[in-house]
Amino acid sequence: MGSQVTLGRLAEMKQRREPIVMVTAYDYPSGRIAERAGVDMVLVGDSGAQVVLGQDSTVAVTVEEMLMLSRAVRRGVSTPFLVCDLPFGSTEISDEQAVATALRFVKEAGADAVKIEGGGEARLSRIRAIAAAGIPVVAHVGLTPQTAVALGGMRAQGRTAHSAARFVREALAVQDAGAAALVIEAVPAEVVDVVLPALGIPVIGIGAGRADGQVLVLHDLLGITEGRTAAFVKRFAEIGDGMLAGVSAYAGGVREGSFPGPEHGYSATPDALAAARAELQARAGAG
Ligand code: KIV
Repeated sequence: MGSQVTLGRLAEMKQRREPIVMVTAYDYPSGRIAERAGVDMVLVGDSGAQVVLGQDSTVAVTVEEMLMLSRAVRRGVSTPFLVCDLPFGSTEISDEQAVATALRFVKEAGADAVKIEGGGEARLSRIRAIAAAGIPVVAHVGLTPQTAVALGGMRAQGRTAHSAARFVREALAVQDAGAAALVIEAVPAEVVDVVLPALGIPVIGIGAGRADGQVLVLHDLLGITEGRTAAFVKRFAEIGDGMLAGVSAYAGGVREGSFPGPEHGYSATPDALAAARAELQARAGAG
């Protein structure tokens, strides 16, 4: 186990151009895998709404659900920097609400930082308030799935003049508001490259060129996600096929009687067997 990754370490990595590796996790085993693989940052993403809770967007997931996932991940992760997503609806009402929510993730789930989507005026105010409360904030601009409806759907941002200007404005604004790091999702690399030199904080890309590091959703990169995934996803393994083969083989074994075998059970002493039979007979006699 290495020493715990801190914001200072992430800043050093940026300075040395050492790529920062971030991955999502949603439970204890995925946290353990991230820990053992030696990633630098783990994100308990609200993508968990889709990839583990089966919802069709990230909008409905609740604070309680995200806290449960986050606590499980925390138990498995001690070295990577742990970031927890603040779900939609948990920061929108006021700065006070946002700070109260962020505090819960730190106190109840052991988050090292919280992530908040968007770079508009109200979002900047939330970033300032949470950072002022002493909680590091990872901002998230470009495609922001929580407000994808307002962006015209789950589509890349920064591809038109208006959208590219807005992206640059927001990336700089979240930094000025006090974000400790930034995730940029689904923005053309050339557009990201325009603003990168002006960003002193670590920048993690997902479908946004190379930046200072990368993040991917665990279930996408492992090939567990079914159906179409975003263009920026690369499947580094096909674990979903392996899981399906394993469960199908188990079902086949039960159905054809090859599982369980004698090696999957326990032996009884002759005394125990005799006592079990005597008990049955005594009950039959009493009846
Ligand atoms: O929720 C999530 O997994 C994310 C990443 C895609 C950055 O926000």
